[in-house]
Amino acid sequence: MNDIMNMDKAYVAGTYARFPIEIVSGQGSLLQDTAGKSYIDLGSGIAVNSFGIGDEIWKDAVIEQMNRVQHTSNLYYTEPCAKLAKMLCERTGMSKVFFGNSGAEANECAFKVARKYAADHKGPDCYTIVTLKNSFHGRTLTALSATGQDHYHELFQPLTPGFKHIEPENLDELYALGDGKDIAAILIECVQGEGGVVALSDAYVKAVAAYCAEHDVLLMVDEVQTGNGRSGQLYAYMNYGVKPDVVSTAKGLGGGLPIGACLMSEKVQNVLGYGDHGTT
Ligand SMILES: Cc1ncc(COP(=O)(O)O)c(C=O)c1O
Repeated sequence: MNDIMNMDKAYVAGTYARFPIEIVSGQGSLLQDTAGKSYIDLGSGIAVNSFGIGDEIWKDAVIEQMNRVQHTSNLYYTEPCAKLAKMLCERTGMSKVFFGNSGAEANECAFKVARKYAADHKGPDCYTIVTLKNSFHGRTLTALSATGQDHYHELFQPLTPGFKHIEPENLDELYALGDGKDIAAILIECVQGEGGVVALSDAYVKAVAAYCAEHDVLLMVDEVQTGNGRSGQLYAYMNYGVKPDVVSTAKGLGGGLPIGACLMSEKVQNVLGYGDHGTT
């Protein structure tokens, strides 16, 4: 243990079991520790460093913006915000974007869109969001409630109500949701990342999409792990030929800067109005 590791252990919350390696620099796919030893960053910072370490175009763009203004509140317009929203909409066919700071926060926005859309269109008793067993949707209490893995839930009861977890690939469980009158949305990862890198079958994703379309249930896709080019397409759902109502993305979208985004289709683009959601 060196001084930095001891300092980290003393002052950083003990939520991470870190390897005994202190990273000091990197370039491309390589990271270096204090002794100059190189490591291949196969984890890409858990799907964050999509451009690699120190990508020149990314770095120049970030530094150029830092030299202008690093942050304004959402009370004002800025060029990067408008341009990124336009680019995301043009490349996905979605209509509106809400920007936040992380994947969990992108999903929180998706949950709010689903709840409000369902309340507006199907009544106040329609709020259940269905997710898949073995899924992972983040660490905020509501994203944790959406996550279909019991061991994440145990220490944090009671969870946010209104989530139901069904077995992936099981059409009986999907159709047992019935006519969808109390189901607001189904949220899936096309490839379950934290759950073991398990791709959903084409037939299952299409069946979920068809069920959602038939019953006015929102199809929501969590692309936090799979998105931004990591699946061969810009977003993994594009490999399945389906059109989601809501897409959440983060991680590689910022390539190391904290950014998340909730993309909303034409159908739900105006669900959130002034004051319904926000972040600094
Ligand atoms: C599929 C998925 N959704 C959401 C999250 C949460 O993202 P964040 O850690 O940026 O809150 C993750 C993080 O690993 C994830 O893999």
